[in-house]
Amino acid sequence: MSMNYQDRIPNNVDLGSNRTLQRALEHWQPEFLNWWQELGPKDFQIADVYLRTATSVDAKGWATYGFVRMPEYRWGIFLADRNLDRRIGFGDSYGQEVWQQIPGEYRATLRRLIVTQGDTEPASVEQQRMLGHTAPSLYDLRNLFQVNVEEGRHLWAMVYLLHAYFGRDGREEAEELLERHSGDADKPRILGTFNEPISDWLSFFMFTYFTDRDGKFQLKSLAESSFDPLARTCSFMLTEEAHHMFVGDTGINRVIRRALEVMKELNTDDPVAIRHAGAIDLPTVQRYLNFWFSSSLDLFGSESSSNAASYFANGLKGRPDETRYEDHLAVEQMYALEVPDGTGSTKTEEIPMRNAMNDVTRGSYVKDCEMGVTRWNRLIEKAGHSFRLSLPSTRFRRNIGIWAGVPTDTTGKPITQEEFNARIGSWLPSEGDRAYILSLMHGVHEPAKMAAWIAPPDRGINNNPVDYEYVKMH
Ligand SMILES: [Fe+2]
Ligand SMILES: [Fe+2]
Repeated sequence: MSMNYQDRIPNNVDLGSNRTLQRALEHWQPEFLNWWQELGPKDFQIADVYLRTATSVDAKGWATYGFVRMPEYRWGIFLADRNLDRRIGFGDSYGQEVWQQIPGEYRATLRRLIVTQGDTEPASVEQQRMLGHTAPSLYDLRNLFQVNVEEGRHLWAMVYLLHAYFGRDGREEAEELLERHSGDADKPRILGTFNEPISDWLSFFMFTYFTDRDGKFQLKSLAESSFDPLARTCSFMLTEEAHHMFVGDTGINRVIRRALEVMKELNTDDPVAIRHAGAIDLPTVQRYLNFWFSSSLDLFGSESSSNAASYFANGLKGRPDETRYEDHLAVEQMYALEVPDGTGSTKTEEIPMRNAMNDVTRGSYVKDCEMGVTRWNRLIEKAGHSFRLSLPSTRFRRNIGIWAGVPTDTTGKPITQEEFNARIGSWLPSEGDRAYILSLMHGVHEPAKMAAWIAPPDRGINNNPVDYEYVKMH
C-alpha cells in the first residue's frame, strides 16, 4: 500500500478508513509532541536538520532526505508490505495461517511484549537528550537527531498496534508510554539499561552499537511473530535500526582511529600521554565496552525461561532468522547450559531447547557484536600495536539470569567476591575515566570542524561531503 502523506498522521495502513482509530491516534499525537518538546533533544527544536524520512517502504523510497525541524518530522505508521502467503514459521502451530487479529488467549502476553519494546524507544530519546550540546561535529549532531526521530517513530509503530488491536487497554498503555521516563525515581522505564544516563558521546556510540543491536535482535524475533501486523511493523523498523548501529560502529571506529593517530605522532601507547593529547586511550574504550556490552546482555532475559518457551510454543516470538534453523518445532532438542555450581566452579545442565530461546538469541547477538570488534582490532593491528579489544564473557557482571550476582572475571571465570570487588575498577569506567571523557565533551557546531578526540568519518550522509552543514542553527 502506498503512503498517505495528506493525513495528519502519515501512514500506509489506510488509517482514513477507520475513523475511530484515526481519531484516537490524532488525540495521542499532541501528547507525543508535548513529550518530544519536553523530553526530546534539548534546545535544538528550531534547528533545520538534514534528516531522512520514510516516504515508502520499498528499497527506493524509505529514505528521502531534506532539511526538517525536528518537531515537524513526519512521524508516521509504516508497515512492511503484507505477504499473503505468509505462514506461521515456528512453534506448535507451525505451517498454519498467520493471524491478522490477536487470538484472545494471547492478548495479555502480546500486549506486554509490545509495551516492553515500545518503552525502550522513547527511553533512549530521553537518555540522549543532552547530547546535542556536546556533539563532536555537525555530522554527528545530525546522526544523533536522526536516531532520535526514528526512535520516536518506533514509539509510533508500537502505539499504533496498541491502539488498533488492544482497545481501551491499549490506549491506556499508549498513555503510560509517555508517563514513564528514563531514570525517573517513581516511574522509571521498564528495562534497566534504559534508565542509565547517557551523558557523553563515547557512551552514546557504545549504546548505539550494543544496545540498539539488542533492539535489532528483539525486532528480528518479533518480526517472526504469528501476529502478522507486529511482524510487518518490526520488519520495517529493522531498516531504520541499521543506521543506529552504523552510528555506533563508525563512532567507535573513529575514536580508535584518532587514538591510533596520536599514538603514532607521540610514538607511545601510554594512556596518560594519549589523554594529554586530547584523545581517548584504548584501555578506556575497552572499559566502556565492558560496561555497555554486559548491561545489554541482560536485556535478553534469563538463560532458562518458561516465558520464552511459551512465546515460542505459541508462535508469539521466534528466533531471529527462524528460516535458518532446520527444526522449527524444537520440541525434542536439548540445550547445554554452563551454570555456576555454587562452589566457585561451573557445571553443564541440559535444558529443553524451547526454554533456552533467550540464550539462543543472545548467542546470535554476541556473534553480531563480535564483527565490529574484529574490524576495530584490524585497525589497531594495521597500526602495529598489540593491544586488542574484546567482548567480556556473557557471564561477566550480569544482573539477570543464572549468572546474576555471580562474581566472575571478564573471561567468565568465577572468582571470589573480594577479588571481584578489588578488580572491578579496572574493568569498568572509573570515576576518573568518566571525568576525563566528560572533560572532552564540548560541542563543535561549525561545518568542517571535528572535536580532537575523534577522527572524521570516511564519508558524509547521502553522498554529501563530511563538512556539509548538516544542521543549520538559528
Ligand atoms: Fe528503535
Ligand atoms: Fe534504535
